[in-house]
Amino acid sequence: MYIPSTSAVACLSLLPLVSAFYPYVPVYPIIHSRKDLYKSVRHAEDALNPRDDSISLGIRRTLTRRTNKYNIISAQPPTQSNSVAVDQDGTDFSYMVTITFGTSSEEYHMLLDSAASNTWIMGGDCTSDVCNTHNTFGNGDSTSLTISDKTFSIVYGTGQVSGNLATDTAHIAGFSVPFTFGLASNVSSDFLSYPMDGILGLGRGDSTSNTIEAPSIMDVLISESLIKTKLFGVHLSRTSSGVNDGELDFGTPNPQLYNGDLIYIPTIANTNGFWEIAVDDAGVDGKALGVKGRSAIIDTGTSFILMPSDDAVALHKLISGSTQSGETFTVPCSATEIVQLSFGGVNFNISTADYVGRRLGGGACASNIIGRQTFGSTQWLVGDVYLKNVYTVFDFDGSRVGFGVKGEEKVAASSSATVSGGSPVPSKTSPLAGTTAPTALSQQSPGASASPTHNMAVKGDEGSGAMLALMAFIVLAVVL
Ligand SMILES: *[C@@H]1O[C@H](CO)[C@@H](O)[C@H](O)[C@H]1NC(C)=O
Ligand SMILES: *[C@@H]1O[C@H](CO)[C@@H](O)[C@H](O)[C@H]1NC(C)=O
Repeated sequence: MYIPSTSAVACLSLLPLVSAFYPYVPVYPIIHSRKDLYKSVRHAEDALNPRDDSISLGIRRTLTRRTNKYNIISAQPPTQSNSVAVDQDGTDFSYMVTITFGTSSEEYHMLLDSAASNTWIMGGDCTSDVCNTHNTFGNGDSTSLTISDKTFSIVYGTGQVSGNLATDTAHIAGFSVPFTFGLASNVSSDFLSYPMDGILGLGRGDSTSNTIEAPSIMDVLISESLIKTKLFGVHLSRTSSGVNDGELDFGTPNPQLYNGDLIYIPTIANTNGFWEIAVDDAGVDGKALGVKGRSAIIDTGTSFILMPSDDAVALHKLISGSTQSGETFTVPCSATEIVQLSFGGVNFNISTADYVGRRLGGGACASNIIGRQTFGSTQWLVGDVYLKNVYTVFDFDGSRVGFGVKGEEKVAASSSATVSGGSPVPSKTSPLAGTTAPTALSQQSPGASASPTHNMAVKGDEGSGAMLALMAFIVLAVVL
């Protein structure tokens, strides 16, 4: 069993002239448990102090009492059936859907986790501090809830969750299904940093890697014949675009949320239930890194893109004015280069709105691409910084991940980034016509000029005092 032994928290000053520090919890490579090998990495912004200065675009009202003290911005209702709105925290760091259980009408906010198959929620008998600031579910909330004697325990690199398995009817996306999940009675304080009340597992894990030994929500939707195809599609909203229309589609992709055809990439077999696909290459403005044999673990539950140091260094070298500080990088806030990841022969663009992070001062911004090996030396962990740019289909039976290119109008709408609560949500614009022609990254020729022509979205200023925490959890879980 691998036990993390280095210090749990190290504060790194990014720039001598900047007072901002990153409380940084290192990610540890691999943890073995007695029964299972299981791992997952989470990253989220420190959400300890609910921000009341952030924008509010929510139009879906929470009708019931709320104990959850975090800033969660409801997305507009989905545009197709069998779908649920994907809410977020207002800083693009955590993406959640709401779920209700049994006879209760209370909404619980569940982090979308495509890198794990476990679903758990904070329980009513939880006495941990964390549970005081989140919505909890337990006896007294739903008359149909049954709590079993079977316990679960999920151990993270920096925390843990444990409790009992429970069963109730889960209501999500218009479906009502019998569902067994973890009801956590003991939640470590690490989760104070996160807005969600629980985690919805959407990984590919089978029973051997699913540490809560119960069918996942996708399994249940299939066994109940509620969806024909075992897949889900995800559109994650970008706060600075001013359109809060995140959506999770069960069974059928929503073609309104991307242009042209989906580009499918076969998944790589692995025992962890990861959605892992081959990366052809990466680049900046068409200049290729020239890396080979890399793979990407596609994770909606990770905010950033993390790649081993050498790859991150090479990538940032192509962004003029970038600097390195250990695992993290700065890029000019005014950077115009488009970072590209190439999958299935297509260069998918990452907008400056996404990889150029919070302002650090002196014109420098944090890069949201981190130089850290999370798993193997050729594996990249590709999270929301990339996924915001595409519509992503996770196809279980097809063993493939599909990417659809999003319309650029949404990005162009960025000037309306700050909308006060109660204002109407800008209506969704129609997608661009036409398909995207696959393009190849060319090997970089020195002096080759590149002039990006789009995607100059206004970046949201994160606000001066806000601390960015790169929280990373590795899951090691045992059903006791
Ligand atoms: C919660 O879990 C921690 C870590 O295993 C343990 O030390 C603590 O005693 C547990 N608390 C309760 C109330 O069970
Ligand atoms: C990426 O951006 C380039 C340059 O703006 C554009 O020509 C290309 O079509 C984009 N690729 C995709 C897949 O959207």
